[in-house]
Amino acid sequence: MSSTITPLGIKADPRLSGRAVKRVAFDEGEIARRVTELGREISGAYPDGDLLVLGLLKGSFIFLSDLVRQITRPLQVDFLVASSYGEGTVSSGTVNLVYDPETELKGKDIILVEDIVDSGRTLNRLMAILKEREPRSLEICALLHKRIAEGLKYDAKFVGFDAPNEFLVGYGLDHAENFRHLPYIASLM
Ligand code: PRP
Repeated sequence: MSSTITPLGIKADPRLSGRAVKRVAFDEGEIARRVTELGREISGAYPDGDLLVLGLLKGSFIFLSDLVRQITRPLQVDFLVASSYGEGTVSSGTVNLVYDPETELKGKDIILVEDIVDSGRTLNRLMAILKEREPRSLEICALLHKRIAEGLKYDAKFVGFDAPNEFLVGYGLDHAENFRHLPYIASLM
C-alpha cells in the first residue's frame, strides 16, 4: 500500500509550522480503512444491549468521531477527562477523573476509546474506576498500541495498529497541544 504523503509532502505541510517530522507512521487512507474495519468488528461484537462509547479526552476526539460513524447499531457517546500526576515517575504516577461522564454506566456495554496505549498507566487506573460503576461489560478500543506496557491489568480488545515506540503526533495526538489536527499520524524528530 503506497503512502499518500511523501516525505516531501510533509515538509511542505503548512500545518507543521516548520517542525521537522521524521516520517508518516500511518497515512490518512490507512487510518480510514482500519477505522472502518474496527467499526464493523464492534458492530458485530454487540448484537444487543445498550452500547456506550466513552472517549478519553483529549487524544481520542478525532478517532472517536470517525469510529462511531462506522458503527452500525444504536449507541450513546460520552467522554472522560483524566488528569495525570507524577509525570516521568511511573511508579508514583496517579490518574484521576476531572470530568466524570453524566451518562448512567450501570448495566451498559461500555467501550473506552483511547488514542494510544503507552505505559498503560492511564488504562489501569481508569478501568478500575469504571468497573466500580457496574457496567454489563467493559472493553477498550485503542487506535494505537505500543506493546511496551508492563503490568497492564486490562488489555485492549479492539486495536487499530501496533505502533512504533516513537513520539507520535496527529489524528488527535499532540506535542505540547500542537499537531492534533494532522489527518495522518507522524513521528517527530
Ligand atoms: C496520552 C494519551 C493516552 C495516554 C497514554 O494522554 O492520550 O491517554 O497518554 O499513555 P499511558 O499508556 O502511558 O498512560 P495525555 O495524558 O497526553 O492527554 P491527552 O489525551 O489530552 O493528550
